[in-house]
Amino acid sequence: MTELKASTGAKYARILSVGSATPSRVIDNEFMLQYIDSSDEWITQRTGIKERRWVAEGETIETLCLEAAGKAIERSGLEPSTIGAVILSTISHYHQTPALAPKLAAELGIGDAAAYDISAACAGFSYALAQAESIVRAGQAEYVLVIAGETISHITDLTDRGTAFLFGDGAGAVVVGPSETNGIGPVIWGSDGAQEGVIWQTADWQKAVAEGTFPKLGMDGRAVFKWATTFIAGAAKQALDAAGISPEQLDVFIPHQANNRITDTLLRYLKLPEHVVVARTIQHLGNNSAATIPMAMDALLSSGEAKSGQTALIIGFGAGLVYSGQVITLP
Ligand SMILES: CC(C)(COP(=O)(O)OP(=O)(O)OC[C@H]1O[C@@H](n2cnc3c(N)ncnc32)[C@H](O)[C@@H]1OP(=O)(O)O)[C@@H](O)C(=O)NCCC(=O)NCCS
Repeated sequence: MTELKASTGAKYARILSVGSATPSRVIDNEFMLQYIDSSDEWITQRTGIKERRWVAEGETIETLCLEAAGKAIERSGLEPSTIGAVILSTISHYHQTPALAPKLAAELGIGDAAAYDISAACAGFSYALAQAESIVRAGQAEYVLVIAGETISHITDLTDRGTAFLFGDGAGAVVVGPSETNGIGPVIWGSDGAQEGVIWQTADWQKAVAEGTFPKLGMDGRAVFKWATTFIAGAAKQALDAAGISPEQLDVFIPHQANNRITDTLLRYLKLPEHVVVARTIQHLGNNSAATIPMAMDALLSSGEAKSGQTALIIGFGAGLVYSGQVITLP
């Protein structure tokens, strides 16, 4: 057998920069009440959400991704052409093919790079980050752009009391590159397809066309809540252990923003000390699926609540069911 050359890359990888984009339309809880029997008080108490952002005319998943990625590239100080791979995580891009990532790469001036979309719902950013870290360490690209972008408002059933008020639109992006020290801990990820019916699309495309309907998101909120506060809590602990980090050594916690009560339960389970800064962007942004974690990361760094070089735990979970988390050094 003829031996083949293998690619080799950097010993370690880290996140070099982050950027995000929020659409301009602010949708408060009052707005939702024209569609569902609810109240601002109930939504705030049960989820922590006061408002979310939805795309306005002229804003699309593409414009949001370009804005977030453009900021991340600019903050990295890199020439776009040095980026060798682009991974976009989304579940709300209208085209099943072609993927949006190649178009984004071209529009960002990145040019000839590996570019593809992944579908891992609210765990998508962490999934893509794990791939980026491996790509850099394997030498398959020196720099990788990870984008997570969603326009969940387009697939939200406004008449569904269980989901209408939960989701928002937005995008977040990071540039991952080589590092002298490790800035991305081992990923703890997985799936449970036996629970595929817990979060669903109301019809596949064939059925939707036959019925003249448009597929929307459906969800068994209680089942997700239970899974997130039991199984996911354990996965978050595993991500800390895998990185060799104790709760005391953690500076920042960025869980998927699905529900503040889920976040509170995770905090209790992990016994995180008082000094840990906890992302609560759900209050103003709602749940942005894959985009949630990088958007929250950028918000915490921009506000000064979190600082570059600090150690953060991220964990995402959602439709599939899928989950993914790792400890990172903030850019
Ligand atoms: C969706 C979610 C907020 C619902 O909260 P909940 O406490 O589980 O609500 P339940 O469905 O158990 O309903 C509790 C009560 O509130 C009522 N209720 C449900 N939706 C309501 C609404 N929009 N407004 C007012 N009342 C509502 C129910 O009728 C029920 O009333 P009852 O006790 O008189 O029967 C919660 O389950 C959740 O956040 N789950 C996680 C979902 C998620 O984040 N998914 C995304 C994963 S990526």
